[in-house]
Amino acid sequence: MTADELRSKFVEFFKLRDHVQIQGRSLIPETDPTVLFTTAGMHPLVPDLLGQDHPAGKRLVDYQKCIRTGDIESVGDYSHLTFFEMLGNWSLGDYFKEGAIRMSFEFLTSDRWLGIPAERIGVTVFAGDENAPRDDESAEIWRSLGFPPERISFRPKEDNWWGPAGSTGPCGPDTEMFYDFGKEPCGPDCGPGCSCGKWLEIWNDVFMQYNKTAEGKYEPLARKCVDTGMGIERTVTILNGLASVYDTGIFAGIRGAVERAAAYSYGSDAGKDRSARIICDHARSAAFILGDPKAVTPSNVGAGYVLRRLIRRALRHGRKLGIQGQVLPPIAAIVVDEFGGPYPELEANRAFIMEELTKEEDKFLETLQKGEKEFEKLLPNLLKDPRKIMSGRLAFKLYDTYGFPIELTEELAGENGMAVNREEFDEAFKKHQELSRTQSAGTFKGGLGDQGEMATRYHTATHLLHRALKIVLGDHVAQKGSNITAERMRFDFSHGAPMTDGELREVEAIVNEQIRRDLPVSVEVMDLDQARAGGATALFGEKYESQVKVYSIGDFSREVCGGPHVERTGGMGTFRIQKEQSSSAGVRRIRAVLE
Ligand code: ALA
Repeated sequence: MTADELRSKFVEFFKLRDHVQIQGRSLIPETDPTVLFTTAGMHPLVPDLLGQDHPAGKRLVDYQKCIRTGDIESVGDYSHLTFFEMLGNWSLGDYFKEGAIRMSFEFLTSDRWLGIPAERIGVTVFAGDENAPRDDESAEIWRSLGFPPERISFRPKEDNWWGPAGSTGPCGPDTEMFYDFGKEPCGPDCGPGCSCGKWLEIWNDVFMQYNKTAEGKYEPLARKCVDTGMGIERTVTILNGLASVYDTGIFAGIRGAVERAAAYSYGSDAGKDRSARIICDHARSAAFILGDPKAVTPSNVGAGYVLRRLIRRALRHGRKLGIQGQVLPPIAAIVVDEFGGPYPELEANRAFIMEELTKEEDKFLETLQKGEKEFEKLLPNLLKDPRKIMSGRLAFKLYDTYGFPIELTEELAGENGMAVNREEFDEAFKKHQELSRTQSAGTFKGGLGDQGEMATRYHTATHLLHRALKIVLGDHVAQKGSNITAERMRFDFSHGAPMTDGELREVEAIVNEQIRRDLPVSVEVMDLDQARAGGATALFGEKYESQVKVYSIGDFSREVCGGPHVERTGGMGTFRIQKEQSSSAGVRRIRAVLE
């Protein structure tokens, strides 16, 4: 079965059951500023799930393009994707658990529809916790449909709860349907939902029952709703008896283009296959982001940064495969050809997609060329080393100064009969990361590595907040620690009394003023003493190397820090303090968000 057939069948099935088809929406969320991309079909429907009446009625069906980049490092294996399509049926205060589960079961197993043997399906249901009870009702419905206990797993909130998509909003327990590949169980606890490779999730029925508030409370919704999501790529994979999403017809054309450009055949070399899969996925995502009516372009902030990362990573893997010249544009052309039917916006934006991809590739190639040139300058000296080993510190300098990826340094070294001391590089890299953490954030528990653009914005926001507090409360204010997630920041600072409402509003206004001024953020490397003498704020009691980075935000703030930071403050969002409270004696804590 093809993706087109699955899309049509799904819509037809639910239309026959009184659902009205609605259009999927933009990949850039229109109603939810807390996320960079639409990560599920429910985003555009958040107001409706919270109680608003939808003009198309109470039963809806759609397909929605989605981007999730949380697992971007895993892309390259057999199942991870950054772009995917989600089929969904919706009940806005109409049917609930019984109706949703029975329809899901019929669509999956009936010969008229997908015809998956019922015994190849296992399900998970919510095990219950302090916020919501165990979902015995869903389990009972599955039992009544013939599911034995070993094919119904009860799982905790991390697994069987959906939402909110951002930090607040509709959410609830879910029941997830898994395809059983028929492998041996990995152990006595192996059941639906186990990640050993035996089970693959294909559909999720979410029972939207709560609204999670900014204070973290779960308030029952007046009107209970159903939100479901079936992944097209995964479902097509299992319906065709395949083991990988990349083996499906969905990727056949795109993969073919990669194979032709790299002059190799997919399946013949594990390393090359991984690169090919990364290019396939990232090029498809990039084409869809640029083809969106609300397209963003590559940049160093927000969704634009994610796009830049996708393009650069694909390009690098293109080079690894030996593709000379353009990598993404020819593949994006195929994405437009093949997905332009269900997503006509791609065709409408074809020229724009090509232009932007070409521009970004050229820019990155310049970076690569600069790095290569530097490498060549270093080469005569390197070749003098009888052991033929390039120091990791030198490789790190190429990375840090020119953005030159280590894999390419290794490749160039290899071409000259040398190896790079990778251990030393990794050590320097790790030290740099740790330095970034401690310098930018004091006690930094959240970790930087995995948090991407929002965390970067919050980093810059801590500098703005730090300075604003000094202006409003006085120079005694000093940062005592901070903690950043992709969703919010916490900032601890020395101050002897609770802040008044007036002071809080003033601090907020000062920070927002700097964001509005769209100040440039610049960085200089200098001696610590020199930095202090120049008036840069450095955290007392922190350990610094003798050479430090000093980040300046326009004329407003100057602080010793490892970064990363946004390039300009404009576009960071609106800064809002949610809470100010005591942290320990003489130390206050602010919790704030960028909205
Ligand atoms: N919103 C649910 C999901 O994305 C259906 O899995």
